[in-house]
Amino acid sequence: MTNSKSSLKSTPLMDRVREWIALARLSISDAGNRDFSDLQASYSQHDQYVHKYLGGSLTDQKVIEIGYGARPNRLIWFFGQGVDIVGIDLDQPILRGSPAEFLHVYRKNGWERMVKTIGRWFINERQLRRAMLAELSRQRGKTMELPAERLVVGDATSAPFWEQNRGANYIFSEDVFEHIPPESLERLLPVMAAST
Ligand SMILES: C[S@@+](CC[C@H](N)C(=O)[O-])C[C@H]1O[C@@H](n2cnc3c(N)ncnc32)[C@H](O)[C@@H]1O
Repeated sequence: MTNSKSSLKSTPLMDRVREWIALARLSISDAGNRDFSDLQASYSQHDQYVHKYLGGSLTDQKVIEIGYGARPNRLIWFFGQGVDIVGIDLDQPILRGSPAEFLHVYRKNGWERMVKTIGRWFINERQLRRAMLAELSRQRGKTMELPAERLVVGDATSAPFWEQNRGANYIFSEDVFEHIPPESLERLLPVMAAST
């Protein structure tokens, strides 16, 4: 049997539709999740590293996260725990779900990514972000606003970010360096070292 032109064309579309359905199911199944224990576990782990290698605790350090990702919940959680933290990522995160943010995703990554981003935001992330800020406000005993100014959009291998954020003594990153080309990584290490 031979494939018709239309069935050949439709295969990738069907794959994408399946992927979207799987994504929507995952987001819906996670929609009621208001458990921040994974963020707190990550906080405790980094706090232990600080105790072990620097002394003191995470809240005594000037911290930088390289590549906080599209969902910068860890950085927001750490900030909520009183950490002096700034992050940098190439991609603009969705912070308020504004049309301008979705437009930015469309311009940078195309309509398919924009549709997925909008879906995730309205099914799950918007409520999660609100619940997280409410929990952090409860813990701190005062209203906590989204620390948007702490989420820098830019290239971590460029010197100006490091010049503006001199004196960091704890820098971390998860699942990022494998996405940075080796020649850019070679640029990163000297500018990072010069700023600390
Ligand atoms: C796989 S994601 C990991 C995100 C997050 N760290 C996490 O664990 O969920 C990789 C992130 O690295 C960011 N990234 C890649 N190259 C970068 C660069 N040169 N400067 C800043 N961020 C970069 C990407 O934009 C992306 O958000």
